[in-house]
Amino acid sequence: MRRVVVESPATVSEVLFGCSWQTTFERIEGRGSVIITDHNIDRIYGALFPKGVPVIAVKPGEESKSISTIEDIVSQMVSIGIDREGFVLGIGGGVVCDIAGFVASVYMRGVEFGFISTSLLSQVDASTGGKNGINVSGSKNVIGLFNQPRFVICDSAMLKTLPESEYFQGLSELLKAALIADRELLETIISLSGQLSSADLSPIDDLVFRAVEIKASVVTRDEREHGVRRILNFGHTFGHAAELCYNIPHGNAVAWGMLAAIKFSRSEGYLSGEDSETLAGLIESLNILPDKSIDVDRVADRIQYDKKRSGEGIHFVFLRSPGEAFTRLVSISDLALFLRSFKL
Ligand code: GLY
Repeated sequence: MRRVVVESPATVSEVLFGCSWQTTFERIEGRGSVIITDHNIDRIYGALFPKGVPVIAVKPGEESKSISTIEDIVSQMVSIGIDREGFVLGIGGGVVCDIAGFVASVYMRGVEFGFISTSLLSQVDASTGGKNGINVSGSKNVIGLFNQPRFVICDSAMLKTLPESEYFQGLSELLKAALIADRELLETIISLSGQLSSADLSPIDDLVFRAVEIKASVVTRDEREHGVRRILNFGHTFGHAAELCYNIPHGNAVAWGMLAAIKFSRSEGYLSGEDSETLAGLIESLNILPDKSIDVDRVADRIQYDKKRSGEGIHFVFLRSPGEAFTRLVSISDLALFLRSFKL
């Protein structure tokens, strides 16, 4: 078993690899726990959940990250009799982790929680980091808090049941981790690029472990995103805008946003022409871009609504070289101007 630690002022959170997800149950049995999951995960794995631990299953998908779902879960937890010593175990992907982390953080002013992370996207990114948010009136993660899970379990055996498209969503965030902070990991991804598919998960364990090490180290240095943590938003400024315009999956949107950010890093004179071409070629070869064409004018109009804007600008993440990112405050108008000139 391998372990990565996220240290925040309030908690030490451990992410565990190479252990079976079912070993977690020793940690939660007999202490007034509840499992929060979604109907898909419950259908596939529910028979293996520990008997006697109540299960609350939500509808799969982003629309469950709502106040009404939270209200419903809290009512069920009150009826079950979960008290302040209780424990919330979220079993699922990014949506379930957000919901379970949010509920646990506010239920009776906060109970402990942990995650069994079932998708590549959540293993690589969503289950680690301590942000727990839900959506209100179409605004994503507009209410939420920072609170670290006690543990996250990443068992690659669970990825076998993932649909192929979900697998590629995760690959996008994995590539992001390499691009911002680890040239060696990037070279490994380049060398494996023709072979990465959900049909062969053997290289994935190591890649996920390395990506989580990167995220954990960044979050430990800056949990609340006042500085270095911003680099984790690489590809997300343009990507989120495209995601909102077209309602495309997050990983595809981030892949498109990374491609645009690479070209922007080149046009601002940070990245060499050769590196920019190599990285763009890599993104194109990984099968992670959106399957529809994106109208850059439409996306440029959307940038101004970015919730991470700071006054008239955004702390935009550039690449200085493959494996090294930095941020610079860029005005919304300059971002829009670049985007309008961006061609795929
Ligand atoms: N829970 C996701 C993050 O903190 O980045």
